[in-house]
Amino acid sequence: MKLIIINGPNLNLLGKREPELYGSETFEDFFSKLQFKFKEVQLEYFQSNIEGELIEKIQEVGFDYDGIILNAAAYTHTSVGLGDAVKAIETPVVEVHISNIAAREAFRHQSHISAGAAGVIFGFGLKGYELAIRSFLI
Ligand code: DQA
Repeated sequence: MKLIIINGPNLNLLGKREPELYGSETFEDFFSKLQFKFKEVQLEYFQSNIEGELIEKIQEVGFDYDGIILNAAAYTHTSVGLGDAVKAIETPVVEVHISNIAAREAFRHQSHISAGAAGVIFGFGLKGYELAIRSFLI
């Protein structure tokens, strides 16, 4: 089972970015724990602040990997291109958000990703990534 977590803009700052919303753990530390927990999964991680790089990564893995766990961060709410990329590929995508986007500003209620996603998980903190991995295993 080959899965990749793709994180969008500003998620490289997890741990120091608005910790009251996103927690105080770095994604690198969390990712090491995930790799330890899911030894049977070939788990990769990619992060970019650049929309085009995210689209290229989705295209690159999207006909080969078993699953993509995508937190497109702010691009979720703005990027038709990322939404189109998710629809263009064969690999199923689970959309994840750390915070409860439904309880935040109205502009965060719209997602260009959801329509092409196999499912959406939000509001569970970093645990959402673990739930997304498990969704590919059950
Ligand atoms: C986020 C929610 C987005 O609205 C925001 O722009 C982010 C993070 C989340 O994981 O909760 O950067 O995707």
